[in-house]
Amino acid sequence: MSAPNIETIVSLAKRRGFVFPSSEIYGGLGSAWDYGPLGVELSNNVKHSWWRWMVYDRDDMEGIDSSIILNRLVWKYSGHEDTFSDPLVDCRNCKARLRADKLEYSGEPGLSVGGSITEMIREKRIKCPNCGSTNLTEPRPFNLMFETHVGATAEDDASALVYLRPETAQGIFINFLNVLTTSRRKLPFGIAQIGKSFRNEVTPGNFIFRTREFEQMEMEYFVRQGEDETAHEEWISNCFEWFLGLGISARNLRFYEQPKEELAHYAKRTVDIQYRFFPEREEEERQWDELMGIANRTDFDLRTHSKKPEDAEGKRFNPDSTEDLSYFDETSKERFYPYVIEPAAGVNRTVLSLLMDAYSEKTNEKGETRVILKLRPALAPIKAAILPLAKNKPEIVGMAKAIKRSLQPVLRAVYDDTGGIGKLYARQDEIGTPFCVTVDHQSLEDEAVTVRDRDSWEQERVKVSELADHLQLRLKE
Ligand code: GAP
Repeated sequence: MSAPNIETIVSLAKRRGFVFPSSEIYGGLGSAWDYGPLGVELSNNVKHSWWRWMVYDRDDMEGIDSSIILNRLVWKYSGHEDTFSDPLVDCRNCKARLRADKLEYSGEPGLSVGGSITEMIREKRIKCPNCGSTNLTEPRPFNLMFETHVGATAEDDASALVYLRPETAQGIFINFLNVLTTSRRKLPFGIAQIGKSFRNEVTPGNFIFRTREFEQMEMEYFVRQGEDETAHEEWISNCFEWFLGLGISARNLRFYEQPKEELAHYAKRTVDIQYRFFPEREEEERQWDELMGIANRTDFDLRTHSKKPEDAEGKRFNPDSTEDLSYFDETSKERFYPYVIEPAAGVNRTVLSLLMDAYSEKTNEKGETRVILKLRPALAPIKAAILPLAKNKPEIVGMAKAIKRSLQPVLRAVYDDTGGIGKLYARQDEIGTPFCVTVDHQSLEDEAVTVRDRDSWEQERVKVSELADHLQLRLKE
């Protein structure tokens, strides 16, 4: 099974310390979340897994970590200043601010949203989801980039205006030449980056699904034009396989081909991988939403940031850039702007999908139901919990603590003696710990412990001297 809805995960996440509502002691801050002791481990494990798969396991990849605040011109030429906006509508009755493209309208389905939305508002075919009024303003673009100012300048000094990046991708494009020349790479090759991005979303919500501050795992794969479509197909299936490898069930994943009118300004084609984030919704089509996007960005970005391209009259498209981000092919002696395939995933949405997918319930012989988080061992926040069977026996406690410390250098282990053994097991099951290690009276004699498996509840006796190797082997399963 998986979680019946996001609410189940919100409550588990808060109860057990995965994710807390941010700034709660001051009344909170809409749609901002803080990752607690278990959440930070899970999200780090996701990022490590992605980095290992994307960078270390391949021969054609480099990684970078670029600034969050970039020169404003990056966003001018990337097209974000002009086009990175959502159509915003105000309800004149209840003053709610709404995203026009997400509103439901009455009438025949299939009408193209976008062009006709203004007409539908004029015809009063769209109702405010908040109060039901049809008294809505016409849509206007609302830019999603957060603005701030660098240096001790006046707030209205336009020359000091900068943005928090809304995607990590641009930091990669502007470093294309730096990476190319220092790594002496040949096409095809990729540059990967993980980091925070910021969008002033009009309608954030659904827990960590849509927030204004979030983390992305993006990779730009540079290829020759003509080889882009095949590379795109390969990355689409590679990414799907990666999610399956994380343990996400295939029945909760699907592809979604973005229709032309949904494509970002730079994209020739984009295929999303969607997850069933809303299983409780009756209509199957409304159960799915984006987990990641895999776009063919053509040569748009490298070309737009380059100083060379000119129009028919010899006027440079980009008079501000000091570099030409083209590639020289030694074999064909040709210079060109590579095409780019971009797999872009969200860390937070991956964490949410993992929590939802791993959620299960199990009832024991006494009829008690427990939550069990069936996370793959590699992703589990805690790998092993060391539990003394008698906390009033100093020898047992001492041995359990010593075992915990001996495991520490190789895996994340915790010691817990704050309850009876049944309760301690249940606690670990609920947070996805794959192994509970119990130290009992017998352990003092035979230098062995009981290792109990989270999913099968089976137990085996393991020598303390072999425990670290034993657990490490089983963590790879
Ligand atoms: N560089 C391309 C790009 O940014 P995107 O589809 O806008 O593409 C990629 O974002 C991924 O980032 C999404 O699939 C999603 O997982 C995540 N993401 C985007 N906006 C988000 C938000 N407001 N909150 C949480 N995750 C978000």
